[in-house]
Amino acid sequence: MTEKKEEILRILREEKGRFVSGQKLCEELSVSRTAVWKYMNQLKEEGYVITSVSNKGYALAESPDILSEWEIASQMETRALGRKVLYYTETDSTNLRIKQAGEEEAVEGTLAVAESQNAGRGRRGRSWNSKPGKDIFMSLLLRPECEAIHASSLTLVAGLSVAVAIREITGAEAEIKWPNDIVLHGKKICGILTEMSSEESYMKYVTVGIGINVNTQEFPEEIHKVATSLFLETGKTYIRSHLIAGVMKHMETYYGRFCETKDLRNMLEEYNQYLVNKGKEVAVLTGDVNHPQVLYQGIALGINEKGMLLVQTEDETIREVVAGEVSVRGVYGYV
Ligand code: BTN
Repeated sequence: MTEKKEEILRILREEKGRFVSGQKLCEELSVSRTAVWKYMNQLKEEGYVITSVSNKGYALAESPDILSEWEIASQMETRALGRKVLYYTETDSTNLRIKQAGEEEAVEGTLAVAESQNAGRGRRGRSWNSKPGKDIFMSLLLRPECEAIHASSLTLVAGLSVAVAIREITGAEAEIKWPNDIVLHGKKICGILTEMSSEESYMKYVTVGIGINVNTQEFPEEIHKVATSLFLETGKTYIRSHLIAGVMKHMETYYGRFCETKDLRNMLEEYNQYLVNKGKEVAVLTGDVNHPQVLYQGIALGINEKGMLLVQTEDETIREVVAGEVSVRGVYGYV
């Protein structure tokens, strides 16, 4: 049933609002007219606005912002990533669902998507705000054939894919705050949590967890100064499945490039172009978030092929900052 609904949505979307005859749908789906009619009714009940006119057929006028397996699948343009979707109305954390899938030998590219998480996880042991209906909470299973030390580069691959997809779909100028955040107008719209399972020095699988603030209209007091959403910055709401498919499309391209060289050399230019701190003064910090100590300050030059941030200090030395070991901030605030 899932596949038939996916196919119907895909066919209707390809026609971009034009009518598709019932006959054509029957032939393409290899089902009866009555079956097509039943699927259409189910889709209408889910919130799709489908116009049906006798002798003309069916046309998709509007899609709801829902995250069913068939809705997500019908938007996907990839070969492997996001082709298998595990959908949850509510789960603890999509990262945990993908870790379980990883242990159970699920195929590379399996994507867990949840409408809400009751134990959403952020970096450094923090929680991730995961209320239902507005935002994207998803985790991707990757099985790159390389050594464990390269895992952190996948966070950068994902960050670049999110920034490119947001720019393409919304037109908003999303930027990357190295290494894990995507920002818009200086505030965070996306966080990435990459977790790895390794055997000796080899990667078994990697879980790339991505949280995007899409249609949320307000944030809790403690984060509203640094967090924002696509809605708050652009004044428009977005269909989340479209963004999910967009991120997967670009992830497939950049992950493919990563797998060729096991590093970021084939996407350096794009990454550095989107880097919010490039050419600006940053502070490299250590210690916990609430009591950070400044190690040194300098100008951020961009990343190298290993994903390290290059910071030029006052004495002209170029230092290589390793993600995870320290944090980097703009000297005047979050970016
Ligand atoms: C950060 O702290 O910036 C990283 C946040 C990552 C949140 C996402 S939401 C989907 C996935 N599941 C989780 O529990 N966390 C990640």
